Amino acid sequence: MRVPFNRPFLSGKEFDFIQEAVANWQFSGDGAFTKKCHALLEKELGIPKALLTTSCTHALEMAALLLDIKPGDEVIVPSFTFPSTVNAFVLRGAKPVFVDIRADTLNIDESQIEQRVTPQTKAIFLVHYAGVGCEMDTIMAMARRHDIAVVEDNAHGFYGKYRGRYLGTLGKLATLSFHETKNFTCGEGGALLINDSQYIDRAEILREKGTNRSRFFRGEVDKYTWVDIGSSYLPSDMLAAFLYAQLEAREIIQSKRKRIWKYYEENLREWAAAHGVQIPTVPSHCEQPYHMFYLVLPSLQARQAFIAYLNTREISSLFHYLPLHLSSMGRRFGGKKGDCPVTEEVSDRLVRLPFYNDLTEAEQMRVVAAIKDFRWGAS
Ligand SMILES: Cc1ncc(COP(=O)(O)O)c(C=O)c1O
Repeated sequence: MRVPFNRPFLSGKEFDFIQEAVANWQFSGDGAFTKKCHALLEKELGIPKALLTTSCTHALEMAALLLDIKPGDEVIVPSFTFPSTVNAFVLRGAKPVFVDIRADTLNIDESQIEQRVTPQTKAIFLVHYAGVGCEMDTIMAMARRHDIAVVEDNAHGFYGKYRGRYLGTLGKLATLSFHETKNFTCGEGGALLINDSQYIDRAEILREKGTNRSRFFRGEVDKYTWVDIGSSYLPSDMLAAFLYAQLEAREIIQSKRKRIWKYYEENLREWAAAHGVQIPTVPSHCEQPYHMFYLVLPSLQARQAFIAYLNTREISSLFHYLPLHLSSMGRRFGGKKGDCPVTEEVSDRLVRLPFYNDLTEAEQMRVVAAIKDFRWGAS
């Protein structure tokens, strides 16, 4: 039996809650389950407002709209991320300014940000890679000095912490992903986290097709109309019902993932050190949410041989991200080889191991045993 890279997880209550949502006769968005998800996120994270969205991508697009990012603006972003982090503001006509990552946490290198700030810099969109916090003290102090907004793309980092504070609560705005590959999922989904209350009213309008329908539903206005630009960023309440079942099971899910992560770390640490392989670094002031386990192998050839070899042992492993500054879009913004050397290296050498809530110890033993059997000479 193949060990897949990801296998979706059911907490057990998903279908009951969907049935309940259907019985409520509210199939569209912002029904009872959406409100429950919002309340849970706001209470757990201690933030003024959370809004479910149809994806993290859409939450990022909302962030760019809320910050009024427009043509001529520049936005600082790591090159080592998913295209959505960048598309969000490129869609508004802004220019990405790519910054390299740190070789240890693979997060944006905070020491390289300030030199890229210009009078056009409007925001920093950062990513807490693998749910390990970026160096937020340095970044937030620098952002304050230059009056630049910080948006946390926290697709990986729900329940991660930086110096005791939840990731996603530190920038003006933050986003979450509930895609199938994330710790908590409803298939496709996300959330916008609003930490600065001045954005709440407009966020509700942008998310509801540029109308004040949210205020109408609360009885604050007697009709709703077109008041701003906007789109449709809210998920159906049936999806929120699915998600709520997962969020309710958060302690079980996080403890399963912690066990899996620790197993890899304990069983691969010495092997990795002996073969020049890097395993994830989690600084002592960061708490990670156990989103993924990756290895950084010594070379591209070794990585490719390793993935092909694991495949022959019926184990799926994956790599990501291709450097955005070298993508065809990135090159249109002037990106060229050598701009972000750590990103370029890591992108060639990183491999992600199977990681899902119900990965069994027997499956993990097979993965670890196969890894230890890998013949380096073959690469
Ligand atoms: C860092 C990062 N941001 C954004 C996204 C997009 O998330 P979604 O699929 O929820 O739109 C991803 C996808 O995995 C991601 O890795």
